[in-house]
Amino acid sequence: MCGIVGYIGDKNAYEIVINGLRRLEYRGYDSSGIALYNSELNVCKTKGKVEKLVKKAKKNISLEANIGIGHTRWATHGEPNNVNAHPLISNNGSLVIVHNGIIENYATIKNELIDKGYNFKSETDTEVLVNLIEYVQETENVKLGKAVQLALSQVFGAYAIAVFDKKKPDEIVVARLGSPLAIGIGEGEMFIGSDVTPFLDFTRKVIYLDEGQVGVLRNHKETKFYEISNDSIISPNIETLELELSEIEKGGFDHFMLKEIHEQPKAIIDTLRGRLKLNKGIIKLSGIDNNLNKFTSANKITIIGCGTSWHAGLVGEYIFEKISRIPVEVEYASEFRYRDPIINPNDIVIAISQSGETADTLAAMKLAKEKGAFVFGICNVVGSSITRESNSGTYTHAGPEIGVASTKAFTTQITVLYLMALKIGKAKGIISNNVFNKYLTELNLIPEKIEKSLSFNNKIEEIADQIKDSTNCLYLGRGFNFPVALEGALKLKEISYIHAEGYPAAEMKHGPIALIDENMPTVVIATAKGHYEKVVSNIREIQSRKGKIIAIITKGDKDVKEIADYYIEIPETIESLTPLLTTIPLQLLSYHIAVKLGKNVDQPRNLAKSVTVE
Ligand code: G6P
Repeated sequence: MCGIVGYIGDKNAYEIVINGLRRLEYRGYDSSGIALYNSELNVCKTKGKVEKLVKKAKKNISLEANIGIGHTRWATHGEPNNVNAHPLISNNGSLVIVHNGIIENYATIKNELIDKGYNFKSETDTEVLVNLIEYVQETENVKLGKAVQLALSQVFGAYAIAVFDKKKPDEIVVARLGSPLAIGIGEGEMFIGSDVTPFLDFTRKVIYLDEGQVGVLRNHKETKFYEISNDSIISPNIETLELELSEIEKGGFDHFMLKEIHEQPKAIIDTLRGRLKLNKGIIKLSGIDNNLNKFTSANKITIIGCGTSWHAGLVGEYIFEKISRIPVEVEYASEFRYRDPIINPNDIVIAISQSGETADTLAAMKLAKEKGAFVFGICNVVGSSITRESNSGTYTHAGPEIGVASTKAFTTQITVLYLMALKIGKAKGIISNNVFNKYLTELNLIPEKIEKSLSFNNKIEEIADQIKDSTNCLYLGRGFNFPVALEGALKLKEISYIHAEGYPAAEMKHGPIALIDENMPTVVIATAKGHYEKVVSNIREIQSRKGKIIAIITKGDKDVKEIADYYIEIPETIESLTPLLTTIPLQLLSYHIAVKLGKNVDQPRNLAKSVTVE
């Protein structure tokens, strides 16, 4: 969480840093701030979003500068206010820093610095770090790069930082451990971002700083990189960016979330491209091809993830069990990492993550590796930490997902899981060629069937109007669609702040039924081949208690259509592929409810897209 941006070069640093912050706002938006240097240090910070910062900065500081850093915050230490907002300045007024992450031993260091005469204005761990750097710089009489390196070797936790010294405003020192940091290389200028979007308009050359590295970035001068631990000089890889600017813009939609929901047909085509080869009747997936034996002989697969990615993992459990006959456990990464999980030789751990930066998932993967598991990553963001930490993996190719509520990441993660399970199932001889080919044909048709499901947008908007004032909502599904019910409820909670719970339909009678009355709508996924009769009975049980029903049904359904208050028809497909279709109306329903309630759909309160803290 938190986004950091920096620039040093001949251009106007203010414009670059502010535009970069706008693009990184998905990472946190409690407060924002900027520091610029032009014969004096100008810092402007505010509680709230970047647009508020823009107004304040225009009134209060000089915006002319060739060096600057900025921050958009998701508060961890200290409430979001002007004082705790970044950038933070050291006691002598010379060093200024932005930080994404958490310094875990900040309290001890703070007390030591207080004993040495330092004082602190904010409650942040970051102010402790900038003063530790200042202390090291002064007591060791070293340059800023070295001071950062020495200070960081005293801290525990996670960080991506950018810091400069107003006494030497021709360099910005950056470092990372556990939080992402990308460096854009221009002609005589350097850009810094928590991801590459802040500098996409200016350069295609990028360095993804590795764990435990520090860089001294200068304009028109040589840039240097070191290992924090042993001072050795390193030459990081310079990669070429393929991301296009249009991919991170709204493209005519009111919100990123709506754009991303509508992008799903294309996103899934991209996920399948070059992998699902219908004519040849094969699936090519290099991460699996290169490790096929490991997968075919796996005793158990443990899937780890958080939030929506965890829900994709739950769908994966049903898929792998049905198609590849491998036992699967799905774990919240945050629980897995603090248990003493039993990992045996021949076990595989699959980590699912859109951002590739989720701290808990990353830590859980590291633990799994230590215990000898083969760790396979399913990620969207190219070059992210989780992709680098995996033994092997597959990209989802969903394209940038900017709306905080995950949509296309979910459906593309599930698509990858189908490809994997089918490939393994076929290699193990679990599924026949006929069944395999039937799956390939149906998977290939999914994008156009999603398109069809999206065409019910107006009808879903009308349903949203009817239920938007509810304070609670229940989501029910069975089998492959139980995780979709969980995901539907999560979407509603995240962006509309209506309390919602997902439940396996049959479990309703063990608790949630007590809540049902005319004020609590229930969204039921009742696909034609998904334990249909049983779900119909559940619907009747809800109705006899005056509960309103919104049903997701398969085209051609007769029974549920008659009894539901509202229904949305999805096209027919193989039952195990239905999550890719049933999810769509649930995403749109949450979206329209949130819009009608006037909520900030893309940046819901208290949430962040990329959770790089525990
Ligand atoms: C946050 C996001 C969710 C996401 C979860 C896991 O909570 O708001 O949308 O599902 O993190 O993120 P990951 O990037 O690992 O999929």
